[in-house]
Amino acid sequence: DDKDEERSEKSETSEEDDDEGSDSSEEEEENPTEEPQLLREEAKQKETDVEEEKNDKDVKEEMHKKEDCKPAVFIPVDRLPEIQEARLRLPILAEEQVIMEAVREKECVVLCGETGSGKTTQVPQFLYEAGYASSGGIIGVTEPRRVAAISMSHRVATEMNLPSGVVSYQIRYEGNVTENTKIKFMTDGVLLKEIQKDFLLQKYSVVIIDEAHERSVYTDILIGLLSRIVPLRNKKGLPMKLIIMSATLRVEDFTENKRLFRTPPPVIKVEARQFAVTVHFNKRTPVDNYTGEAFRKICKIHRMLPPGGILVFLTGQAEVHSVCRRLRKAFPYRPHREHTGTQTHLSKRAKKKKNMSLPRINLDSYSALPVDEGDEDRQAGIDDNDNEGSDLELGDHPDSDHEEKADPSIPLYVLPLYSLLAPEQQAKVFSPPPTGARLCVVATNVAETSLTIPGIKYVVDCGRVKKRFYDRVTGVSSFKVTWISQASANQRAGRAGRTEPGHCYRLYSSAVFGDFSLFSEAEITRRPVDDLVLQMKDLNIEKVVNFPFPTPPSSEVLISAEQLLISLGALEEPPRRGRLGEMERARLSCPITPLGRAMAAFPVAPRYAKMLALGRQQGCMPYIITIVAAMTVREIFEDYDRPAGSEEENTKMAGKKARCVQMRRLWAGQGQSVQLGDLMVLLGAVGACEFAGCTHQFCEENGLRYKAMLEIRRLRGQLTNADGSSDSVSGAVFTFASDSTPLLDDPVFIHPSSALHKTLPEFVVYQEIMETTKMYMRGVCAVQAEWIPKLLPQYCHFSAPEESPAPWFCPLSGRVKCHQQSTFYRVSWKLPAIEMD
Ligand code: CDP
Ligand code: MG
Repeated sequence: DDKDEERSEKSETSEEDDDEGSDSSEEEEENPTEEPQLLREEAKQKETDVEEEKNDKDVKEEMHKKEDCKPAVFIPVDRLPEIQEARLRLPILAEEQVIMEAVREKECVVLCGETGSGKTTQVPQFLYEAGYASSGGIIGVTEPRRVAAISMSHRVATEMNLPSGVVSYQIRYEGNVTENTKIKFMTDGVLLKEIQKDFLLQKYSVVIIDEAHERSVYTDILIGLLSRIVPLRNKKGLPMKLIIMSATLRVEDFTENKRLFRTPPPVIKVEARQFAVTVHFNKRTPVDNYTGEAFRKICKIHRMLPPGGILVFLTGQAEVHSVCRRLRKAFPYRPHREHTGTQTHLSKRAKKKKNMSLPRINLDSYSALPVDEGDEDRQAGIDDNDNEGSDLELGDHPDSDHEEKADPSIPLYVLPLYSLLAPEQQAKVFSPPPTGARLCVVATNVAETSLTIPGIKYVVDCGRVKKRFYDRVTGVSSFKVTWISQASANQRAGRAGRTEPGHCYRLYSSAVFGDFSLFSEAEITRRPVDDLVLQMKDLNIEKVVNFPFPTPPSSEVLISAEQLLISLGALEEPPRRGRLGEMERARLSCPITPLGRAMAAFPVAPRYAKMLALGRQQGCMPYIITIVAAMTVREIFEDYDRPAGSEEENTKMAGKKARCVQMRRLWAGQGQSVQLGDLMVLLGAVGACEFAGCTHQFCEENGLRYKAMLEIRRLRGQLTNADGSSDSVSGAVFTFASDSTPLLDDPVFIHPSSALHKTLPEFVVYQEIMETTKMYMRGVCAVQAEWIPKLLPQYCHFSAPEESPAPWFCPLSGRVKCHQQSTFYRVSWKLPAIEMD
């Protein structure tokens, strides 16, 4: 407490000196772990609340003093007249004053507003104009999705008529931040990394946490951290503001959470000018053929309902493309519809008109942008359970409540939208469709809140979303299509009423809707948290259980994360004092080891970070960096399972696909890959590609994805830098695998895309297990039996020679069976004892 007193006194002194705290922080800077220390000791601080409140009062007074002596600033922005006009129509403009007053008075403000009300694009501009970026500080905005970080920075730059060097973005692989950056959009993971470098985030004057309703893990952690950083900054006389923005009104997890904010932050609601949306439920709920149902509904809307854009919500990239393809077939550009549903032969006149007047859609819109944790499309292409199929019942009549008739000759302008789509393709949805055409955007969940598409009058909602699930016991991850929440369904419906009254067609019954959960649960409750725990430990937050999570993960999950990190050598072993109860174990605060710090410096999951640390120790760093970079990029091989439009394009694609399958086999058959498996395939492919100068042509000729190769190159650079900047760890003893690898009872299979598919290695290590139609191991590498006693002596049982007839006895071999064509393993991941002399 004395310290606190001292600190507040100090900052007062510096206040008087008007020295922006450069002196006052001297003492703290000598001890960089002090701030997290404060976090750690928080639990103990309850009794000092009175004192704290006094301090808070002091801080508030200080802030007022500061505000009072600050001139009211207004930084002019030179916007184009049409931009200014469009801005003025946004509901948030009416609240500018209220928002800015609250921001001035409070450390933290929560802002709720319907999607499209202008939160993301306008609030940074308000802050900029109010001078929050004029005295050296940056206005930082975090987004859970890369798509949003990039597209919003472009949009705000355009609106403000400022170059991208001023309104910039930073995502894991790339960015355009400069010394002049004033507004910086970034993914939440990027900001978390920055907190590791500078706990006080001194370069920011304001941090905006956008899309907080999505409850992405990093967003949650950032809010927890910022709830401590912001008061600390203000105590130090380095004012900082936090704005939490949400598209739903459900913000109690932030505001009513006493562990986060002792005084609840004010909540400002932006009333969106929302037009009525009529919701139509299906009578029946299709079991799995919702893409077919969606297609039918779009056809009906387009044929029978008056003009207005259509927005369709599906669950994944493959579905999106499949529906786009069917729509383009059903409604090729032509002035008159001959008959519907199937591929039609255009009349000569129609063909001519098509070529003349209508733009062709670029079908090659697939892109391989890597996606941050939390993006719903990471698995794109793996589990394509696109279940279209039933014949179209074209005799159906549209819903009777629409009297107006549509003009059937209107062309349909079909655009896909999903996270992995290249930014320039995504941008298309924001421009008006070709004159006279009806816009139809077939999207994944990305269109639910992150991006607002203008001109949508009809929404078709399949009621499902694809989410990554982790099995806590087995550690198996899978992408599953599940029902959305009622909140999500209403968000989706709301997209139809932005510019005029609209209609939402739910491809499920009202009874099914009634069974939806009210809100989507926070991501942190659905995934392992080993990476987060490591990052927190690196911030010297030892008692992770005491961290002010908006929604705390279960202690079970925290314990297993700590255990994984202990077995990876990233955390110190807890003292083995008797039998500890689970809760006590959870409270064990294992400090980070030097190896853990080295691992935390790498922007990859702890297991990969361990590989890198091992690679450094073994002197093969460039290879390990390459392998890790390639493993992080989901798919390095070209996959022509993509839609084509015309017959000739289809034929071309089919040819390419066959060639790619062949190329894949060729890569798998190179050198070490045959014995060792997929990691060597990656290494070989990247090496060859780099040797050839990483050209587009080389990739095309060899079945590699050019974009993936560029990303790998970028990540290699990043990892190499991270390697250089972190201290080398010497003397640490590394092991190869981990103790807490989950126990798996079900058979697992080698993925057909693996180089080891149809081979029968005795031992393997895998990158991950993905459940699609079967439990598949991906990224499989063979392990030779004789490595195990060397690398994993703790798993081996060494017995006297006379007891063991053969020099090697591996009980595991006895369990390997052949099951029809597929390799069938019954594997106990706790390696069985190996007897040897
Ligand atoms: O964040 P919030 O959902 O509240 O709204 P926003 O993303 O700031 O969008 C405000 C408006 O800007 C919407 O009407 C969008 O349609 C429009 N906008 C646009 O026209 N082009 C973009 N690239 C981004 C937004
Ligand atoms: Mg937004």
